Amino acid sequence: MIVHITIFAQKSTKILAPTPPMGWMTWNYFGTDINEKDIREMADAMVSSGMQKAGYNYVFIDDGWVGGRDNRNNIIADPKRFPAGIKAMADYVHAKGLKLGIYSDASPLTCEGYTASLDFEEQDAKTFASWGVDYLKYDYCNAPEDSATAVLRYKKIADALRNSGREIVLGICEWGQRKPWLWAAKAGGQLWRTTGDIRDKWMDLSGKEKVDFNWNGILNTADQNAELHPYSGPGKWNDMDMLLVGLYGKEGPSSTKGGVGCSDTEYQTQMSLWCMMNSPLAASNDLRKMNEATKNILMNQEIIALNQDELGKQCIRKINTENWSVFLKPLKNGDFAVGILNRSKNVQSYDLDFSKIGLNGIYEIKDLWLHQNVGKSNKWNGKVDSHETKVFRLQKI
Ligand code: GLA
Repeated sequence: MIVHITIFAQKSTKILAPTPPMGWMTWNYFGTDINEKDIREMADAMVSSGMQKAGYNYVFIDDGWVGGRDNRNNIIADPKRFPAGIKAMADYVHAKGLKLGIYSDASPLTCEGYTASLDFEEQDAKTFASWGVDYLKYDYCNAPEDSATAVLRYKKIADALRNSGREIVLGICEWGQRKPWLWAAKAGGQLWRTTGDIRDKWMDLSGKEKVDFNWNGILNTADQNAELHPYSGPGKWNDMDMLLVGLYGKEGPSSTKGGVGCSDTEYQTQMSLWCMMNSPLAASNDLRKMNEATKNILMNQEIIALNQDELGKQCIRKINTENWSVFLKPLKNGDFAVGILNRSKNVQSYDLDFSKIGLNGIYEIKDLWLHQNVGKSNKWNGKVDSHETKVFRLQKI
């Protein structure tokens, strides 16, 4: 007797990037001036500084690594900058318990004119998989403006990555221009930039709206991203671009292309808002030499816990006036995070009755920058510095 057995292929339900990816990215500090020695040193520093322990585990290589294609059209690393090749780099970071991210573009050439992946999607995805790459940032320079083409090109690389035999997270980078929050998850991306490149400044002072690609400071970026909370969740994140913390306007494209640097208070606000909004966290400063302020901001575990909270809910901006923004983020264990941003140029007092943001009852209030319980109440009032964001964790009692 012949027995027919039907085997149903089980569809994988695993979510890639169930919490926002965290790591360090080459771009803001090095620009295209990258090489394997510096990147290995950064990987070493990621471990020795405590960044890895704090949750940062990707080393993201941005634009500038490609050396063209070989005689079989396989994409290759620049042999001068990466003499050992990308596979050796992947092995190096994996041995430390880290992961490797790489960069390409949905056109023949990247933003800086290096060889990119259009029409080589399958082949490049296989190459990246064979090297042990864990993440691909896929840019959109030199590509047509319309949304339909962008969707097709991103879907093509997403499919190729899915068929590559390795789990590779896809970061879509078309700067929010074609509203990727509406289509990028369906196309196969796990995160998408919602804004143009961030510059190392608090906000744009030109008075013009989005004059050019150098428009975005911390406040502009946060304001644009604040309304996009409905689209974010586990495996589908609004990416607000790199953290500027510790750059101080000194190095790389975020400075030379329109950044003047920020104060530590402003960097602390960036960290607070990027965590409240569940943005991926890509540090971009020199991890080999960080001052105490930079370390305290980047490695604040209680703030990072908001970003990595498994519920995966981006905060909602409940109050927004000329001087104040108040953000509310529900957390998996039933607590709430509340952020109070003083947008003005002066230190000011603020009174927040929690019922105004929909929280009724009495809460134990923990200040996550002071690392202290500051009372049990149905409200908070106190001083907030100019451009400072207070962040509290509220536990109902
Ligand atoms: C674009 C991206 C940046 C960076 C550069 C590299 O501007 O938005 O994040 O990757 O390209 O050239």
